[in-house]
Amino acid sequence: MTPLRRRSLLAAPAALLPLARALAAAGPDAPEPDAPVPETPGLAAHAAARRRFYGSALYEDALAADPGLLAHVRAECGMLVGEYSFKWASLQPQPGVFRFATAETLMAFAAANRQRVRGHTLVWHEANPQWLLDRLAPATGERLLTGYIAAVAGHFRGRLVHWDVVNEPIHPEDGPPFGLRDTPWLRALGPGYLDLAFHACAAADPGALRMINEFGVDYAIDWQQRRRDKLLELLAHLLARGVPVQAVGLQAHLDAGERALNQTVLARFVADIASLGLKVVVTELDVRDDGLPADIAVRDAAVAAHARAWLDAVLANPAVLGVLSWGLSDRRSWLDQRFPRADGLPQRPLPLDASLRRKPLWSAIAAALAGAPAP
Ligand code: XIL
Repeated sequence: MTPLRRRSLLAAPAALLPLARALAAAGPDAPEPDAPVPETPGLAAHAAARRRFYGSALYEDALAADPGLLAHVRAECGMLVGEYSFKWASLQPQPGVFRFATAETLMAFAAANRQRVRGHTLVWHEANPQWLLDRLAPATGERLLTGYIAAVAGHFRGRLVHWDVVNEPIHPEDGPPFGLRDTPWLRALGPGYLDLAFHACAAADPGALRMINEFGVDYAIDWQQRRRDKLLELLAHLLARGVPVQAVGLQAHLDAGERALNQTVLARFVADIASLGLKVVVTELDVRDDGLPADIAVRDAAVAAHARAWLDAVLANPAVLGVLSWGLSDRRSWLDQRFPRADGLPQRPLPLDASLRRKPLWSAIAAALAGAPAP
């Protein structure tokens, strides 16, 4: 069937007239209707052909409100991660009160589509409920941390493929020790909070791959080099102490306007992680374009080329298990709040556009996956 085009709507059969009228009334700037799911293989299939996975974050409101997006998520993703529903403020909004319903809705959707789910995240300095921050102190910290992990990782035991046990622990600008970020957990428990968290997760759900997930390790610029160095140092210290960390998540919040993408530096960083015996997952890929002009074709091409260069360097290492993007479609990205464009246009950071059509970034991810070596 040929896709509906506006100019052909004058001749539309009677049954299509309401749609034709709605589109005509909406005018040229109205959003395009959702694109149908293509019949050609999705990114999950491209990844599986190289024994990797592809998946994306899902914003939980979509589960009830965005069937168009869900159809494409089914077709493109072999793995899902909740954008918010597995964070502490969502799972334990009050002391003693656990709310698993939203996370379980996502689990059920994934199970119905035979998709795997990764857990994000047990320990972070954001998305914590106020009651937790109020109670967190040296005397209470260990019990709060290990009790929460036992409850939450225990609840999902055997059903998640990964846990981001600790999210974003590195921030060298905060000073010693180990380049660790100054967080409520560090203040209450010292660097040993990481040890506690990883041991608690290993006990509660031994089958989930235990990860540190980090951002800002992508470019050959000084502050990111310091972050890479500190992350490697931290991993070596943890492993030397017998802390059961198994993998590193590279968030990959990329910037198409950043020129310091150096494939040699990136490949060496991934090789350094792998040489510690750790796996790597690209966990939150998206590409901001607020440094680029408005023109859509220009932006889409630059975003795709940038991601391709980054992914080629990273996926060249067989320790890299797969790729997830932080959302599937430009119709919703956290970047529009976090880094709004000066011209007010929405960012175009994800594989599908706002009407769910595959973009050059989709092709870049497919091609990068196709080039991955045998694991
Ligand atoms: C973001 C979500 O996308 C937002 O919806 C939420 O309000 C804040 O968190 N790194 C992470 C993610 O590890 O958890 C963040 O997700 C994006 C940056």
